[in-house]
Parts: sequence; structure tokens; C-alpha cells
Amino acid sequence: MCGIVGYIGTKDSSTDFVLAGLKALEYRGYDSAGLVTIDNGRLKYLRDVGRVANLEKLVKRNGHPAVATRDNGLSGEGNFSESSGQSRTSGTAAGAAQQKIDLSAKSTGGVASSAGQQASAANVSCGIGHTRWATHGSVTEFNAHPHANSSRSIFVVCNGIIENYQDLKADLIKKGYKFKSETDTEVIPHLIDHYLKTGDGFFAAFKTAIADLRGAYAIAAVYTEEPEKIYAARLSSPIVIGVGNGEHFLASDPSALIHKTKKVIFLNDFEVAEISANKAHIESLDKTRKEITQVVELDYDHEESELGTFPHFMLKEIHEAPMTIKSAIRGRVKPDIKTIKLGGLESVKQQLTLIDRIIITACGTSYYAGLIGEYLIEEIAGIPVEVQLASEFKYRKEPLSRGTAVIAISQSGETADTVAAIKKVEDYGILKLGIVNAVGSTLTRITDAGVYCHAGPEQSVATTKAFLAQVTILTEIALHLSDGKSKLFTPLLKELTNLPDKAQKVVELAPAIEILAKKYAHYRDFLFIGRNYLYPCALEGALKLKEISYIHAEGCSAGEMKHGPLAMIDENFPTFALACDSSLLDKTMSNIEEIKARKGPIIATATVGNKKIKSIADDVIYLPKTAEQLQPILSVIAMQLFAYYIAVEKGLDVDRPRNLAKSVTVE
Ligand code: M6R
Repeated sequence: MCGIVGYIGTKDSSTDFVLAGLKALEYRGYDSAGLVTIDNGRLKYLRDVGRVANLEKLVKRNGHPAVATRDNGLSGEGNFSESSGQSRTSGTAAGAAQQKIDLSAKSTGGVASSAGQQASAANVSCGIGHTRWATHGSVTEFNAHPHANSSRSIFVVCNGIIENYQDLKADLIKKGYKFKSETDTEVIPHLIDHYLKTGDGFFAAFKTAIADLRGAYAIAAVYTEEPEKIYAARLSSPIVIGVGNGEHFLASDPSALIHKTKKVIFLNDFEVAEISANKAHIESLDKTRKEITQVVELDYDHEESELGTFPHFMLKEIHEAPMTIKSAIRGRVKPDIKTIKLGGLESVKQQLTLIDRIIITACGTSYYAGLIGEYLIEEIAGIPVEVQLASEFKYRKEPLSRGTAVIAISQSGETADTVAAIKKVEDYGILKLGIVNAVGSTLTRITDAGVYCHAGPEQSVATTKAFLAQVTILTEIALHLSDGKSKLFTPLLKELTNLPDKAQKVVELAPAIEILAKKYAHYRDFLFIGRNYLYPCALEGALKLKEISYIHAEGCSAGEMKHGPLAMIDENFPTFALACDSSLLDKTMSNIEEIKARKGPIIATATVGNKKIKSIADDVIYLPKTAEQLQPILSVIAMQLFAYYIAVEKGLDVDRPRNLAKSVTVE
């Protein structure tokens, strides 16, 4: 959460790059934004609450020309070869500061990357920016980043959490430092200010300050006395340096800079960087580490994500369901030659034959996809699977045998808990696999192998198409692990290829689902039920609804209703029942009857041809017939549309729901 960008160079305007970069990273947080730039000796320091667009307006009012906009997105390969809380003082120059500074500082530092001609401080444009998802302190301009020391010579932006900030703050207050915000980040500029007094220069003070911090962070800083440099540090939160010709870029993920350069340096944990237009000098604060991260060339292109004629990205992404499934099976599922080919797992082919237990770890929607994966792998490949929330798994002390493989599932590839879960097993010598959508993201670099979702960029905070890709790939992995021995192997290979057309039929139900959503939008509670493969799918339906409509929703196994949840049912508590044809359909139908008997309104999804359900449910959404194992893929599209239209009916910000961010990079 929180997006960081930075620019140092002679080619571009730091303000332009920072604003465009912040827009590309807005999915990481969108409650306030800010920047600091130094151009031709002029310091510009602007912050505002709300979206990056508000900051952009503030910049324009403060005399900057119009700024180009862009969207983020990626495609390609990675390791997977294939204090006070003042309220906002609104208005034009709120939080704005401009001052003239001295440009006499000299450049220092070793070399990890160097390029281009020499740049003097006078013609260098320097800036850092931040889009915030509040952790410490409410959403006010004073809590927006960058944060500065009292003399406003040191500016810092941070993504993450400084766990020991209260101790540091107490020490600094004793030393006479004064704080203006409630944030943890504000300790950093004051700490650097304090260490600067030793006289060893800014980089030395920066490193000493960073060494004092505990927690997880990505940090960027500028110092007005050295306006030809920006500084960066990382511990457990992503930050990448883009290497240009006579310029360097900084961003929380490559999507914000890949349109400028494909040469990048992914900072490792404990690394710090001193970056000028021509040099990126990197050191590790971890003395046991001998290797410093190097420049790598990204081998994928920037993928624009345009809204087109859709009113929201969420609706657009739901409509991409058929294409998403096609991309997830393309080149992998070959029913004609009865083969499944997962190129990303080729390098670990031998190890895969030895595994006798799988742990799937993930968060949120990816976790629910993992639960469906558990049913799939156990039924098709016969390998025991456990699914664990990454936030729990990373702290659990459980025995892990060498025959265990861990699969991390993540759309973003940056979720802090999922990354930590994989890091936890790094020294166990067990196989670490990933199912990831964002190309080149952290998880693709720290797993041994994996399978890309190829779902394309997702802009909506509520994930939709990535879930479809994840479940499709889990089906492929299950088939791959079964080595053709499962009786489901041939039928499922074939049915996977039929799925895009069937998904299209569900997408075409949008107008009918919109009418239903209008009917149900006024309810305050909702239950989602299902059995077997449709149980985890019900959990995902509930998450989708609560996430974007703020309606209280719970997912429940239909068989569990009598064990408690049934007590909640009355005429004001509707149930969304997943009741497609299966060996357990009669049991689900009985559960629906029990809800009906208690006057609970019922919407059901059912397989085309099921007439009986019409007499029980108030409303029925008919879905195309498919294999039981693949029903979650079609059912979830209907639930996504339902949640979407309810949120629209309630007039909510569908793509940017309150309190959430797309990439959760803090614990
Ligand atoms: O990027 P990831 O898949 O690791 O994200 C995990 C969850 O944060 C994510 O699925 C979240 O639950 C979504 N906002 C749900 O729509």
C-alpha cells in the first residue's frame, strides 16, 4: 500500500514524471498524495487529501503546465520461464511551499549503474512523490507525504510501517524535535537531520537513520543541499530503480516507469541507494550480504489499460472473463493430444514427482481461489492439500517435510503477507511455487518456479478476472500433477476449452443481473451458500459484495446453516445460493427449502434446465452446464456482476472502495 515515485535527471520534468507515476500507482492507495521537486534551485512542496487528480490541480494552480496521464499494466515473464492530526487547510496553496535553494552540493558514490553525460545540479530535475493508504494517522494533509524536518531541507516518503516509531519519536522529542503529523514516517526526516549533525554527509546520515528503523518499508528521500540526488532504501516493501540515459527513475513497481526504461534495479532488503542522474550507487546495510543487486532488463512491454466505453474498470474486467480464461489455457491445454503443458513448471519437473503434500498460501480472493485449488488437486491429483491464510502461515510453527511444496497465489505478486509466507520457507529447502498475475513482481522473483495468470492489468481494487485465471490455472496444475491418470483428465481438458464461450454467456446476463441487483440493493445483510466446489466460491461472492457495496455479507457452507447461521434468517436477510447441478444438489436444495421456510428471500444460480429451483427461489440466474469442478468459474462471474450492480445502485465508488487498496504491502 502507498505508491512511491521519484525522478532525477536532465531529460524530463520531475513533476511530470512524478504525477504520471503517482497516477499509475494510485491503485496502491488513494486517500492523499504529495510531492516535492527541486528544479533550477526552486523547491516545490505540495500535498493534498484525496486522489492524485487533486494534487495535479494543486500543481497547476502553483504554476505547472498540464500533465500527461497514463495507466499502468504489464505483460511478459519473470522467474516463471514462460502528531497532531490537524485537519486539512483546504484551498489553493494548502500545503504548498516554494523556496529558492542553493545548488552548490557535490556528487559522490560508487557505481552499480552509470549512464550518459555528466549532469550538473543546475540542470537536474529532482523529485519524489507519494500516494497514501493511511496506516498511522487519519486522512489529512498534514499526514500526507512527503514529510519534512523542521527546516524543510530533508523530505521523505515511505511505504510500509515503522514499528519502533514511538520509541524513536520519544527520543527525538527529548532532543527538541517537533512533530507535525500523526504518522510513523515523520520520524525519518528528523532522524536523518539528527545524524547529519555528525558531519559525515547526507548519505551517511540516511544510512544510520535507516539502520535504526524496525518494520517493513520502502523509502525515498531528497535533501535540498544535494538537489542532484535522490535516496532510497528497502526492507520487505518493493522499490525499483529505472536506469535511463542521464536520468534515473524510482517507483514502487515497474508499471510506473516501464514506459521510460526497461533497465531496472530491484532493491533487495537492507539495501540503500544514492542515485544521481548518471549513477545509482547501492550498498547493503546487511554486512553478511556480499552481493549487491544488479541491473536487469525487463522483457515485457507496458500494457495500457483503457476504460473504453465502460463506466468502471470493474465492469470492463468482468467482461474480459472469456479472454482471461483463453489466455490462461492458451498453449497449455491441448485436449487433441491429451496433454497439459505448463512451461513455467518445466524447470522443477523432477521435484514435482516427489511431492506428497501441498500448502497453498494467499490472502483475500486469492485465498478463496486456493481453497478451490484444494478441492481440485485432492480430487484430480490425489495429493493432500492445506490452504492457509498467508497472514497466519507466516507465523505458524509447524513441521514441514521435504516432500512439501508451497504454492503462493497472488494477483499483484506484492502482497506483504504472501511474500513473507514464501520468505518463511526459504531455508527449508522445499519447493516454492507461484501463481501470479503481475509480471516481474516480488513473488515471481522469490519462488522457484510458477505459472503466470496472463490476465492482464487489473485496475479495479476488487479483483475479478484474476480469480478466474487463478482457478483455471489451479485446474491445470491439478491435471498436470495427476500425470494423465485421473479419470477427469480428458473430460476436464476438453471442458476447459469450452469455458470461454460459456463465460461469455454468463457475461451476457449482465442486464438481467442488473435488474436483480436493483431489487436487492436495499438489504443490509446477505448470506452466500454453496457446497463442495461452490463453498469457497460462496466465500468469494460474499467478499466481493462487502468490499464494494459495504453490505454485510457472509459466506457459508450450505451444510453448516443448521449449525448456527440459520438463526439469522428472516425476511430481511437474503441468501445467494449457489445451486448448480452436482452430486450434492439435492442436499443444497434442502438447505434452500429450510431458508425459505424461515421467510428468507433467495436468489439462486442454477444449471440451465433446473425447473424445480424456480418453485423455491425468488429469483434464479441460469448458468450454462459445465463440469462440477469448473462451476466456480462461471458462478463467480454472476456474483461479480451482482456485487457490481448493487454498488452502482448505491452510488458508490466501485473501482476505489473506501479503506482499501489494490496491493496490500503492509501487514
Ligand atoms: O494481490 P493479491 O492477490 O495477493 O491480493 C490479495 C488480496 O488482497 C486481494 O485478493 C483482495 O482480497 C481483493 N481486494 C479482493 O477483491
